[in-house]
Amino acid sequence: VTIYIPGDSGALALGAEKVARAVAGEIQGRGLDARIVRNGSRGLYWLEPMVEVETETGRVAYGPVKASDVVALFDAGLASGGSHPLSLGNPEDIPFLKRQTRLTFARCGVVAPLSLNDYQSHGGLAGLRKAVGMTPADVVQTVTESGLRGRGGAGFPTGIKWKTVLDTAADRKYIVCNADEGDSATFADRMIMEGDPFVLIEGMTIAGLATGATKGFVYIRSEYPHAIAVMTAAVDIARKAGILGTTVLGSPNAFDIEIRSGAGAYVCGEETSLLNSLEGKRGVVRAKPPLPAIQGLFGKPTVINNVISLASVPVILDKGPEHYKDFGMGRSRGTIPVQIAGNVKHGGLFEAAFGMTLGELVDDIGGGTATGRPVKAVQVGGPLGAYFPRELFDTPFDYEAFAGKDGLIGHAGITVFDDSADMLKQARFAMEFCAIESCGKCTPCRIGSTRGVETLDKLAAGIEPDKQIALVTDLCNTMKYGSLCALGGFTPYPVMSALTHFPQDFAPKPMQEA
Ligand code: NAI
Ligand code: SF4
Repeated sequence: VTIYIPGDSGALALGAEKVARAVAGEIQGRGLDARIVRNGSRGLYWLEPMVEVETETGRVAYGPVKASDVVALFDAGLASGGSHPLSLGNPEDIPFLKRQTRLTFARCGVVAPLSLNDYQSHGGLAGLRKAVGMTPADVVQTVTESGLRGRGGAGFPTGIKWKTVLDTAADRKYIVCNADEGDSATFADRMIMEGDPFVLIEGMTIAGLATGATKGFVYIRSEYPHAIAVMTAAVDIARKAGILGTTVLGSPNAFDIEIRSGAGAYVCGEETSLLNSLEGKRGVVRAKPPLPAIQGLFGKPTVINNVISLASVPVILDKGPEHYKDFGMGRSRGTIPVQIAGNVKHGGLFEAAFGMTLGELVDDIGGGTATGRPVKAVQVGGPLGAYFPRELFDTPFDYEAFAGKDGLIGHAGITVFDDSADMLKQARFAMEFCAIESCGKCTPCRIGSTRGVETLDKLAAGIEPDKQIALVTDLCNTMKYGSLCALGGFTPYPVMSALTHFPQDFAPKPMQEA
C-alpha cells in the first residue's frame, strides 16, 4: 500500500510532518506492508494535510488530518481506503479539483517529486525528447504559436522573448528562472518546485536548446528552503540521468542548471535587479534598454522567465501548440494557475483556462470569506495590484480585461477581504510597502512612497482631507509615469483603486462620542 502525505511547505505548516510520523508509527505498530510517499500538494489548502491512499479502485483522500486523527483513521481501515468522517473519496472528484484544467500542474500532488520514474510515467520528458529532434527556430516557433505569455505578471509573449535571445549572437547565453515569488497570495512557483521539480528543469532545458544557452540559473527566494532543497536534489538527479550536462539526452547540446538563493528583497523579483543579485551585486534595478534578452546576465543574452512560464513549456512541446492555444480567451491563451488566498473559505491553487470571472473564483470556487462576512474587496496581482469591488466581479481573467479595469493579473494571486477591511489602511500599506522595498534608484518611488504614507496619515487624521486626496492623486500620477520599474510604477494601482472604489473609507470619520 502506498500512502501519500505531502511534504509541501504549505502542508508542513499545517502539521504534515507530525501526521507523517504518526502514520509511520501506526504502520510499524500494526505490522502493515505500506510505504509513505511525501508528495507535493494538490493545492487544496483548506484540506491540508491531505493524506491519500492508493487502493485497487484508485486513490482515496482524507483531510484535513491531524496527528491525533491517525489512530482512528487506521482503525477505520485507512490502509485500504476505509470510510471515516475525514474521508474525501477520490481526490480527483472533489469539485475544486474536478473543475480545473491542469496542464502545468498535471503531476503536482500526484507523483513523488524526486522520482524520475514517476515523472516519465506521467508524461514527463516527452516535450524535451521532441525538442531535441527539432531546430532551435522550430522550438521557438512552437512556443510562439502556443500563445504562451509571461506568467510572472507582465504577460510578454514567451516565444518572442526567446526569439530575441536566439537571434542575438554571443559566445555564451543564459536561461534564468525567476523563482523570487514575492507577491502576496502567490505560491504557484513554490508548489511546482516542491511538487514537480523536473517539469521546471525540463522547461529550462528546452529553453536552452531553443536559444543556444548552455547554462541556467534558478533564483529562488531564501524564504523557500524546501523548494531550494527539492530543486537542488532534482538537478542532481537530472544530471546523473543524463538530462543535464554536456549532452542533453545524448544529443550534442550541453545544458546545466545551478540553484541560487535570494536574500529577501522584494525588488530582486524585478528582472534586472535579480540579474545584479545573481552577479553578486546589490539588488538595484538597471535601466532598460538594453533588454536582458540582448545584454543580460554578465552582459550576455539571457532569457528570464518566471517558473510557471517555463514549467508550461514541456506540455506545449509534448501536446503541440494548438492543444495549449485552444484554451483561453482573446490574447490570453492556455491556462493560468490562480492562487486564491486571504480571507477565503477554500484557499488554494486553481488552474483553469483564462476567461473565468473574478466573481466565479471568489464566490463559487473560493466559497466566499472564511469569516462568513460579505466580501468587500479582492486584491488581484499581489501588493501592487488593484483592489476590485463586487461591482467588477464580472471581469474575466484575461490580461487585457484586467488592464481595461485599471488592474492587472500579475502572477495571478488573489487576496480576499471581508467588509471589516479599511481601504484607507490598505492604501497606506501599499505606500509603506513601496517605501520599505524601494531599491532607491529613482526619486518618485524612493521619496514619493514616504510622502505618500505621510499624506495618507494626514488624511486619516482628518487634516484638510480634500487637499490630501488631491496630493495623493497627483503623487500616484508621478509615481506611475516617472518610476523606473514596476515597484514604484505599480504602487498607484492599489492606492488609486482603493480611493476610486471605496471613497467612503477615505471620507472624514464622524467624531467619536466622548
Ligand atoms: P515589462 O513589461 O518591462 O517586461 C516584460 C518582459 O518582457 C521582460 O522580461 C522584458 O525584458 C521582456 N521584453 C520586453 N520587450 C522585449 C523584446 N522586444 N524582446 C524580448 N524581451 C522583451 O515588465 P517587467 O517590469 O519585467 O514586469 C512587470 C510585471 O511584474 C508586472 O506586471 C507585475 O505584475 C509583475 N510582478 C510580479 C511579481 C511576482 O512575484 N511574480 C512581483 C512584482 C511584480
Ligand atoms: Fe528602485 Fe523603486 Fe525606482 Fe524601481 S521604482 S528602480 S524599486 S526606486
